[in-house]
Amino acid sequence: MERLVTDQSPEAIAEASVVYNMFVEGVLAETGYFSFYQALETAGIMPGLLEGIGNLKKDESRHIGYGTFLLQRLICEHPHLFDFVAAKMQELTPLSLRLNEEGIAGREVSAFGGDSVEVMNFTLKQLSVRMDILARARGKKIEEIYRFSDSELGVL
Ligand SMILES: [Fe+2]
Repeated sequence: MERLVTDQSPEAIAEASVVYNMFVEGVLAETGYFSFYQALETAGIMPGLLEGIGNLKKDESRHIGYGTFLLQRLICEHPHLFDFVAAKMQELTPLSLRLNEEGIAGREVSAFGGDSVEVMNFTLKQLSVRMDILARARGKKIEEIYRFSDSELGVL
């Protein structure tokens, strides 16, 4: 992010957006919401907190939608950036897996009944979903990118 102060090249913007919007928000935060919902819904407790988290998740989807729109426009205008973005996501993947593993380390069972295998599978799904959505920008004209709907960008 700090690099953007002095470097606003498409590569620098794409890297910042991949790390923040796609990985931190689109994979890590989304996994956190999933885990939270799974645990509290299974336990049937804290409905007010779940509702509040649901609102956070909705807001978060707008941030992710913004990053998706930004990256799709960059990929459309600079097609080589798709491979750059894919490589960055690949580089970050082991970190997301490790964060999941560390999150459940030392506990065989979640106190609220959550399922750590499902959470890990959700992370893996998010990693591929983010790239699938970005791949839609390949070979498109910029006018077509502008016509993508909110739901096509993942906004709830
Ligand atoms: Fe956010």
